Amino acid sequence: MALRVSVIGTNYLGAAHAAGMAEFGHEVIGVDIVEERVQTLNAGRSPIFEEGLEPLLTKHTSSGRLRFTTDHREVADWADVHFLCVGTPQSPSGAADLSQVHAAADSLAPHLTRPTLVVGKSTVPVGTAPALQERLRAASPAGDGIDVAWNPEFLREAYAVEDTLRPDRIVLGVQNERAASLLKRCYAMPLSENTPIIECDLATAELIKVAANAFLATKISFINAMAQMCQAAGGDVTLLADAIGHDKRIGRDFLNAGLGFGGGCLPKDIRALAASAQDHGVTVLSDLIGSVEAINAGQRTEIAELAIEQAGGDVTGKRIAVLGAAFKPGTDDTRNSPSLTVAAHLAAHGADVHVYDPQATVDSPGISQDPTVEEALTGAEMVLHLTEWPEFRQLDPEHLATLVKNPLMIDGRLKLHRPQWAKAGWKVVQIGRAATL
Ligand SMILES: NC(=O)c1ccc[n+]([C@@H]2O[C@H](COP(=O)([O-])OP(=O)(O)OC[C@H]3O[C@@H](n4cnc5c(N)ncnc54)[C@H](O)[C@@H]3O)[C@@H](O)[C@H]2O)c1
Repeated sequence: MALRVSVIGTNYLGAAHAAGMAEFGHEVIGVDIVEERVQTLNAGRSPIFEEGLEPLLTKHTSSGRLRFTTDHREVADWADVHFLCVGTPQSPSGAADLSQVHAAADSLAPHLTRPTLVVGKSTVPVGTAPALQERLRAASPAGDGIDVAWNPEFLREAYAVEDTLRPDRIVLGVQNERAASLLKRCYAMPLSENTPIIECDLATAELIKVAANAFLATKISFINAMAQMCQAAGGDVTLLADAIGHDKRIGRDFLNAGLGFGGGCLPKDIRALAASAQDHGVTVLSDLIGSVEAINAGQRTEIAELAIEQAGGDVTGKRIAVLGAAFKPGTDDTRNSPSLTVAAHLAAHGADVHVYDPQATVDSPGISQDPTVEEALTGAEMVLHLTEWPEFRQLDPEHLATLVKNPLMIDGRLKLHRPQWAKAGWKVVQIGRAATL
């Protein structure tokens, strides 16, 4: 049976979740404090580039099952379940900044007059949920009638709609049967398709999410450390990854060596986990994460320094083209983008950096953005391939060789077909790949 669902915070996570809940048959109101975002969403448009999101928003804003507001009061007593999808950015100390979670709770609480369930989906440090429940109960007329549950989200940007509609697992951190059964009604549709469900306590649910991100980050940093080893010893990290990836216990995903991870989640989530591990005295975990972060940051510096070295030690005034600005393909998200860190490093050393990206907008001082690959490459003394958009693998190296001043490609993602580029006269540099391949 359909429920009334509110989704508080409607950007990368919340917009997809709100549209997904409408697709699951519920009546949904999304709440955000950014008026312009709410207007865009109410017009059935997506505030971000995310495959398939706009059609879903259009479908359900048109059907009347989905709308958006800036007023928390509208949803307080209306909804059976409130999902919190606000941001949890990194604070200067590295710990998660929970001010958006607190502000959302404070806007909602005074208007909750009947028992209700508030479900956190944002990624938070362990211990957040019980503290939030106390905060909500203290400020709300419904008092102890308010329960908090945690239902962490695992969607991947670029696959947000697919992951929302067909999640690979649903984690329910709950304190009682009422919360569990309400959440199961929210997810009745994916559950009817045998989606695995893990019911657990609040702390486990909070930790599951950060553990998943920390494990994925560790996999990437591990393969990048192996890339360094291959570079030093003359091996090929791509073949190595293919070979170990066939082992079912390891798997091939997240074993792509190169520029490492970025984005609005992984970097800040593992840093927050490290801070939380320190608070709990679990230094083995904070030390492990510290190494993962150091390897990841090192990849960016290494690629930037390699570019400077390939330019003869000085990039001042030299035109350098960068392919890709988004932190990964399939999104316009440039938060903590490895590509832009490298571009900024080169610009800071005096290079004339020209970036092309199919979706992302670059707003960094000293970096130009060009509307086409051709324009970015024209007159370039070096090209860096830093975000592996599929279209970059379809480029014609022969044609591009006629545009650049010097056919030198640094493939920071190890995804270009080196023999094809070499045949067209390019020198292709890839860290961790044997020169003969
Ligand atoms: N982006 C992802 O792919 C992803 C995946 C899984 C989990 N998460 C987690 O989900 C959470 C949200 O991530 P995001 O990338 O969508 O963050 P975001 O910063 O892009 O979006 C947060 C949204 O919340 C709104 N907001 C802030 N304060 C509010 C308030 N008081 N009331 C209502 N709305 C408010 C903001 O205006 C914004 O639209 C984070 O904890 C993140 O770690 C994100």
